[in-house]
Amino acid sequence: MHYHSEGKIPQKRHTQFRQPNGTLYSEELFSTEGFHDKYSILYHINPPTRITQVGDPIDVAPVKASNKELKHRCLNGFKVAPVDDYLESRKVVLFNNDCRMSLAAPKTGTKDYYFKNADCDEVIFIHKGSGTLQTNYGILKFSYGDYVVVPRGTIYQINFDTEDNRLLIVESTAPITTPQRYRSEYGQLMEHSPFCERDIVKPTLPEPIDERGNFKFFIKKKDKLYPYEYLDHPFDVVGWDGYHYPYIFSIHNFEPITGRVHQPPPVHQTFDTKGFVICSFVPRLYDYHPLSIPAPYFHSNIDSDEVLYYVDGDFMSRKHVEQGMITLHPGGIPHGPHPGTIEKSIGAKGTEELAVMVDTFSPLFMTKDAVSIEDPSYYKSWLD
Ligand SMILES: [Fe+2]
Repeated sequence: MHYHSEGKIPQKRHTQFRQPNGTLYSEELFSTEGFHDKYSILYHINPPTRITQVGDPIDVAPVKASNKELKHRCLNGFKVAPVDDYLESRKVVLFNNDCRMSLAAPKTGTKDYYFKNADCDEVIFIHKGSGTLQTNYGILKFSYGDYVVVPRGTIYQINFDTEDNRLLIVESTAPITTPQRYRSEYGQLMEHSPFCERDIVKPTLPEPIDERGNFKFFIKKKDKLYPYEYLDHPFDVVGWDGYHYPYIFSIHNFEPITGRVHQPPPVHQTFDTKGFVICSFVPRLYDYHPLSIPAPYFHSNIDSDEVLYYVDGDFMSRKHVEQGMITLHPGGIPHGPHPGTIEKSIGAKGTEELAVMVDTFSPLFMTKDAVSIEDPSYYKSWLD
């Protein structure tokens, strides 16, 4: 992320900054990684600390369906049932200590509560639907194809324009960044990066809300949801600046890197974090060597579990693909094109495929929600 500022801030940090009535604004330093990483400074009308109620925590820790993870898997993601409430709609399907991958079909948003994920950064990929994310840093409007990146600790409400929504939510216990190799020593996205700062949509800060009441929160910490109530409206920020804030990057703005022969998955990398990477497969021209084979080779990425979430378009290397489908190809056993797709790809000029890939460096586990939407015969699909 790069430096951004919204609203009113004082000329110098940690100095007197007064409201029109003469009282001081409440300065809040929001830091990550123990004051050593990105931070922002927010200015509130009221102190952000006036808690009126703390309820009993609700356990939301994902539970392993089994320990037998070394098997190719296929999940029919659109079979996840629509659920009225946003938080209840989030169904973890795959997880390990570094990440949680959830599918969600919320019919409505957060309604009368605010949510804060104190455990993880979130990437909310909008497969279907549109709406608004309201946060303490401002408002972001999202639509189909957006990666809505919500760093840990962001207070938000999410609202949708209709009831027909499909989300892929990836949570990371470590901060999510853009790939280091695309950034200069000053943090700028360089010329060889498939996207740049102009493609990053920042929040717009509306007028602050100075209200008192019982503002309900759910705060997620160590896989528990804590019901909280605060006296002051959380969106009372008059200004902020820094590097820590939610933003949107649309998959449609990812400029694909192509070559004479098949390019490896890292050219599709969009986000980076300690335990995994997120990649975007977007419509692009195929390889242009006269003897090129556009379909990928069989591959054995021995150290990574590879998750592919199919969004739209054709998929030249797979058969029977539907929107919202997830395949999991675990490290340890090879995978690759389905029978017939290698020959079929030769001579093709381009692809319209759109997919999100998550490669984790530790094995993933399935939950019961994943088992309930699994195609159990998938691991035999290379016999077709
Ligand atoms: Fe693969």
